[in-house]
Amino acid sequence: MLLLLAIILYVVSTIISDLFGAPYVPTSSKLVDSILKNANLKPGQCFVELGCGDGRLVRNAVAKYYVSGLGIDINPYLIFYAKIMAHFQQLKNIKFKISDLRRTDLSQADVIFLYLLPSILPVVQKKLMTQPHKKILVISHFFQLSGWEKYLLKTITISSHPIHYYQLF
Ligand SMILES: C[S@@+](CC[C@H](N)C(=O)[O-])C[C@H]1O[C@@H](n2cnc3c(N)ncnc32)[C@H](O)[C@@H]1O
Repeated sequence: MLLLLAIILYVVSTIISDLFGAPYVPTSSKLVDSILKNANLKPGQCFVELGCGDGRLVRNAVAKYYVSGLGIDINPYLIFYAKIMAHFQQLKNIKFKISDLRRTDLSQADVIFLYLLPSILPVVQKKLMTQPHKKILVISHFFQLSGWEKYLLKTITISSHPIHYYQLF
């Protein structure tokens, strides 16, 4: 009975993810270390994973680079799981919120990680362009950020997955 309930909740939450902008497709664990290593994270920075799923990028960033972390996802099931994992990893300085990224305040972010569909990426780009300008590193897994060629710092390709790093301002 409990298993059935869990399956129903999972299916419903998957539909929610799809409807709001991007399905849940986790970044392969094999890529996480390289993505973070190439970000040159500094202790004390604020790392935000928008559409965080189980929060594997933000949890690893907090655990290994002493940044503070925020994971945002529309899917309550995934946020619940991310919180449990962070608890077992005994991570401090990390928060997870159920929220639509369209309504997320990004003013504190120093580094933002995205693995989202091209249809929703412009929403994030517009938010960053309309808030007071500050230096932010934006990392996009797979998809390029249209119109941001001048901010492109580098693209690395790990096992056929391109990761794009954009340095704003
Ligand atoms: C491709 S997955 C990436 C998960 C994780 N960042 C990773 O790399 O493993 C995209 C995630 O974005 C979330 N998502 C989709 N639309 C969203 C929205 N409007 N606001 C917040 N999260 C959203 C989905 O629930 C899903 O977990």
